[in-house]
Amino acid sequence: MNVMVINNLSSLRRYCVQASGTFYATTPIFYVNAAPHIGHLYSAVIADALSRYQRLRQPQTQVHLCTGTDEHGTKIQQAAAAQSVPVAQYCDEISGRYRQVFKEVGIANTDFIRTTEQRHKQAVAQFWRTLHKLGHIYSAAYSGWYCVSDETFLTDSQLRLDTATGARFSLESGHPVEWTEETNYMFRLSEIQENVIYWVKKGGHVRPKKFEKILLDMLSESLPDVSVSRPANRVHWAIPVPDDETQTVYVWLDALINYLTSAGYPDKKYRKFWPPNVQVIGKDILKFHGIYWPAFLIAAGLEPPQQLFVHSHWTVDGQKMSKSKHNVVDPVASAKTYTMEGLRYFLLREGVAHSDGNFSHVKALRILNSELADTLGNLLSRACAKSLNPQQVYPRLHAVQVDDLLRMDAAKRLQDALQQIEARCAQHYADNNFYLVVDTVISTLHAANNFFETSRPWELKRPAAAVTTGNDVDAANTQNIENFERLETIIAMTMDTLRICGIVLQPIVPQLCGKLLDKLAVPQEQRLWRNLDDCFATKSSNENVARPLDVHTDAVLFRRILLKEEDLQAGPPIKSPPVPQTKEKMKQKQKEKTAKSKTAAQ
Ligand code: MSP
Repeated sequence: MNVMVINNLSSLRRYCVQASGTFYATTPIFYVNAAPHIGHLYSAVIADALSRYQRLRQPQTQVHLCTGTDEHGTKIQQAAAAQSVPVAQYCDEISGRYRQVFKEVGIANTDFIRTTEQRHKQAVAQFWRTLHKLGHIYSAAYSGWYCVSDETFLTDSQLRLDTATGARFSLESGHPVEWTEETNYMFRLSEIQENVIYWVKKGGHVRPKKFEKILLDMLSESLPDVSVSRPANRVHWAIPVPDDETQTVYVWLDALINYLTSAGYPDKKYRKFWPPNVQVIGKDILKFHGIYWPAFLIAAGLEPPQQLFVHSHWTVDGQKMSKSKHNVVDPVASAKTYTMEGLRYFLLREGVAHSDGNFSHVKALRILNSELADTLGNLLSRACAKSLNPQQVYPRLHAVQVDDLLRMDAAKRLQDALQQIEARCAQHYADNNFYLVVDTVISTLHAANNFFETSRPWELKRPAAAVTTGNDVDAANTQNIENFERLETIIAMTMDTLRICGIVLQPIVPQLCGKLLDKLAVPQEQRLWRNLDDCFATKSSNENVARPLDVHTDAVLFRRILLKEEDLQAGPPIKSPPVPQTKEKMKQKQKEKTAKSKTAAQ
């Protein structure tokens, strides 16, 4: 074992220190060989929700959320060639689509990185030089089975042999492999393996726990060194190895370094955000992020991430999404039915990190209609109904009425739910269990709808005019005033519930909650986690005034989707967008079309 390596490593073992005052979250960077689908969106909305939660809890924290596109390698080379599009143009097109979809779905990324950018090439060159200088890289003749789709060499035990054809396939992904013999640079993974195990075993870095176990299983065998370069004449669409133009950097090493580039590496400013607080990845890329990535970092003298949050996959009606099955769910087309907020809600509400989730159009329709339209939306419409709330205000709470109403079971249940919502949801967010946050909020909203119905506000008439003559208060008038105050209190308690639920759900459906809180005229600075505590609080008299609602914001939060379930059995008309075409190809197609229509006309 290389002595220099050991010395460097033992002085490093702190995994993981935390940068303070900052929060750095990442999504994987997305291959540009295919347009975005809901699986990709899922990685991004999780990272976005985590970052938004951080801002909600600690508005002073500087949050950095990075996403972007992974643009090098054989796979991309081949995809561009198949479309007869220059590879750079091909990358621009698909990368642009990711950027656009993420914008539409409200991903608040502070950076969008492309591996073809100059800043990234510099980071990769510097990182490579560091590994090389520290003795972690050596040159060797290498042969093995390479899987282009997965961009990785596989060992015999990771292959399946098709005896009929003699072809081999990756056991895990099912993609074909090809025998490759070449001279490569190798990374001494075998020497870092024990350090990676140390990092994983320190606990809490790989979540959910299930994936920590899977990773430790993978690490229980001695791992061979990894090839970290390819001959430039085979893979030219890649970053050149510094000082050796015959080789290009292995796409996974290139791709992983994006997380450093985005933090500012090689400039020292990267330290402000290093190590990342959370890196969101899908289960298929666990090996790269849970073994190679910490190994590369530890070898280069850098801290591995604080947390890898691994999610499972989306299937569609029980089947793996794939182009050949024509079941790839395109977010842009789906949003026409569900809206982007609806899609975001569905993914975070239905997705459970440790198990695969099933995307079904019928289920999406049911959930969005029953929860966003009928439960959340309906409660807001009720509280804002002109018949009950003609002055369009967030009314005052009257202490006597609050006490009286709380004698009702329905009100008590609502109060109990609200008293627990902060602690429960804080725990669920801390565990990245968004579905449990939504469960808690929805059951609170059910309690609120029930309270509203049980307290029958429509029976409490508004007084025509509260007339008092001297010290004598007319008995009927007193009743009127009491009724009016009770009505105000019921609406205020309902609005308080909506305000609390709106604050809690912001990381999950930010635009929808923004609209809800706008309607309730909740000032921006009072939409933070710390504003969750003053529910049903009768404030001091000068604060306890009715506030006008925002009349410019529609009280309909989420429109019911009016499709019939039968229409959705086969899925709404969702198609993947066309791949980019060269001008020549488009011209050719146009010619063919014209020729066809001429023939038809004859
Ligand atoms: N480019 C690599 C990542 C490099 S990160 C340094 C890559 N790209 S990807 O486009 O194939 O996948 C990006 C993310 O989308 C991964 O987290 C992956 O797990 C996720 N998903 C792709 N299909 C998915 C589903 N069907 N369901 C959920 N997420 C899935 O891998």
